[in-house]
Amino acid sequence: MDEIIIEGGTPLSGEVSVSGAKNAALPMIAASILTGGKFTFRNVPVLRDIDSIERLLSDMGVAVETLGNTVHIDTADLNRFEAPYEQVRQMRASILVLGPLLARMKKARVSLPGGCAIGARPIDLHLNGLSLLGADIKLSHGYVEASAKKLKGAEIYLDLPTVTGTENLMMAAVLADGVTILRNAAREPEIAALAGMLNKMGADIKGAGSPIITICGVKKLKPVSTVVIPDRIEAGTFMVAAALTGGDILVKNCNPDHLQALIHKLEKTGAKIQVRDDGVRVKGGGRINSVDIRTLPYPGFPTDMQAQFMVLMSVANGFSVISENIFENRFIHVSELQRMGADITISGNHAMIKGVPKLSGAPVMATDLRASASLVLAGLVAKGTTRISRVYHLDRGYEALEKKFARLGATIKRVRAKA
Ligand code: EPU
Repeated sequence: MDEIIIEGGTPLSGEVSVSGAKNAALPMIAASILTGGKFTFRNVPVLRDIDSIERLLSDMGVAVETLGNTVHIDTADLNRFEAPYEQVRQMRASILVLGPLLARMKKARVSLPGGCAIGARPIDLHLNGLSLLGADIKLSHGYVEASAKKLKGAEIYLDLPTVTGTENLMMAAVLADGVTILRNAAREPEIAALAGMLNKMGADIKGAGSPIITICGVKKLKPVSTVVIPDRIEAGTFMVAAALTGGDILVKNCNPDHLQALIHKLEKTGAKIQVRDDGVRVKGGGRINSVDIRTLPYPGFPTDMQAQFMVLMSVANGFSVISENIFENRFIHVSELQRMGADITISGNHAMIKGVPKLSGAPVMATDLRASASLVLAGLVAKGTTRISRVYHLDRGYEALEKKFARLGATIKRVRAKA
């Protein structure tokens, strides 16, 4: 198993180009099984989660060819409709095949994802929406078994604006008979990106990116060539790195519109931010002010940036409170940050952070994707050596992160840990 070793303390500077968004690529690749034919996806990040969805599709008879950041997919021979436990266990986003399988094959058998390190993460809203569309849903032996003679448009109110739930229901509804209205839909940019691809395929979706999405069912879809949007969480991670290390980084190939909540908060910390035609430039170096954040569905502050922002607050001047409102257990990075000298107290879904002058390098363990990114950031600012184990979590969602940080001047390397 690989480890990442960091000698902290260097202000990072230079330019970095952001990769395609994992959480946009996953539903877009899943959407390819809605119809048979040849798809091309560009700007696909090279990641473990992308391998996972590709393997899942291959096992269903889909031909997948990856050439760097371009993925060719031929869905003509899709012949299975199952996502087995072994695959869903490795990546819960495998649930994204449920909607498209049901729409095309009229049946699907997908393992229930179960909980994960950051929370219970039920899928009741996906299943409730699908049954409103006319699917017969059974839970049996840890699997969701869904079938439908014909899906029919319906009014669906989501109790919570679930991201993958909105995506699953949008994909199921595009081939349904009649009109579906999703209310309290998630507004994340990845939803609008998926709707953009589906509309290019011939779907009729309006309002994606707003809380009300209207989907008029169509009879047929066609394969397309499409490009994955930039990863706003990767971009945000580099922006925090600039502020944290007192550096000066131009984050290229990102969409500043998707980063407004973070830009607003980073400015309050004292970082200088310039939105330019070629990217977002973040300059740190002065005093870091303590700023409170609360995570919320988009356009609120993203839960996927909470752990990284916490590292910045750990070395800020004064006290801050971070409230996690999306996942019930997303503070698992805190105990590792405490081992590096951070002064953080947890009470329910609030973390009280008292800034300290310095973090100190330590051996730490990654526990989930964004927690791993926070440990890398902590290592970059800490005095001495940080050794991060279980970095396979990082590889699920960040493309060549340590190489990108090395190019910005960090002393960081990946080593193969001794067994
Ligand atoms: N929820 C329910 N019932 C449901 C669905 C969700 O109660 O049927 C709850 C969840 O337990 C959670 C909240 O609703 O408390 C929001 O969860 P959501 O469904 O929106 O999350 P998700 O779709 O499972 C996606 C991203 C996550 C990201 C969240 C929130 C993908 C593949 N995953 O997850 O990304 O944190 O939205 O923005 O898009 C990551 O990339 O590290 C990651 C975890």
